[in-house]
Amino acid sequence: MKGQVCVVTGGNAGIGKAIVQALAQKQARVVMVSRDKIRGETAVQEVQRAVPQANIDLVLGDVGSIAGTHALAYTLLDSYPHIHVLINNAGVWPTKKRLNEDGLETGFMVNHLAPFMLNQLLRERLQASAAARIVNISAGLYVNGRVDLQKTPYGDDFHPIRTYANTKLCNLLCLPLEAAQLEGSGVTINAVHPGVINTKLGDMRGPLGWLMKLVKRSWAKPAEGAVAPVWLATAPELAETSGKYFNEKEETPLEDVARNDALASQLWQLSLELAKITA
Ligand SMILES: NC(=O)c1ccc[n+]([C@@H]2O[C@H](COP(=O)([O-])OP(=O)(O)OC[C@H]3O[C@@H](n4cnc5c(N)ncnc54)[C@H](OP(=O)(O)O)[C@@H]3O)[C@@H](O)[C@H]2O)c1
Repeated sequence: MKGQVCVVTGGNAGIGKAIVQALAQKQARVVMVSRDKIRGETAVQEVQRAVPQANIDLVLGDVGSIAGTHALAYTLLDSYPHIHVLINNAGVWPTKKRLNEDGLETGFMVNHLAPFMLNQLLRERLQASAAARIVNISAGLYVNGRVDLQKTPYGDDFHPIRTYANTKLCNLLCLPLEAAQLEGSGVTINAVHPGVINTKLGDMRGPLGWLMKLVKRSWAKPAEGAVAPVWLATAPELAETSGKYFNEKEETPLEDVARNDALASQLWQLSLELAKITA
């Protein structure tokens, strides 16, 4: 991976930071995207302490809005003539309904629309970079998702548990269409459930939050959550694999809920319209 430019969104914490570290160990030039300067700088220093030869650029980017995601894409396009790996890792588990400046529910924006947008906006740059790969960090909970295009994007069916599943399902629904769009272009795209990992995802205050923190102590560490995503991004044996979903390192067929072609096409069209992108 020496010198290969690898972009990791949400690279300052949890699984993303562990992915940055693992890629740095492989001598990649890692672009850590963080929405917060201080959290980003602190994370870069931590990774550099662990991997003294690490080659990391910190790029500030907030994928919580359409304008923020466009701005991140333009920054990346301005800064990097080649992008060999894009890992869409930034994610949220919203426990309360919050709408962003576009009127979109936060989970829908961060978990679905932002990765969808980056894949579209960086597509030509990825195509111009030999054998590029996109890895979407998904979640096995997608199986519990039920997407209603009239409601889910706007949080009208908000639920503190189901919304996470719904928004991860949204992103997976588009995977076959994205793979078809990229076919023959030299760029692959796959999605992965990284495992059940002890991070700050979905952390909340109060007694329930405290209880969850206790439960999470028995979960795997972020470094273990980085194993499958980094393997998908780098393994030579996966050079031709595209459009697949992996449960950690096991290729797993998508459940029926994620194989709804009609819903996927409508969501694809809606996502392009919301993001003001012409594909
Ligand atoms: N942990 C698990 O068991 C598990 C299981 C399945 C899937 N996943 C997926 O794994 C991915 C990483 O999650 P994690 O568990 O490592 O959680 P995490 O520790 O909460 O990390 C999430 C990362 O996303 C960033 N992020 C959130 N909103 C953002 C925004 N608007 N703009 C830019 N960055 C933003 C966070 O930045 P801040 O530090 O600024 O908040 C953080 O860097 C997510 O996609 C998650 O859904 C996790």
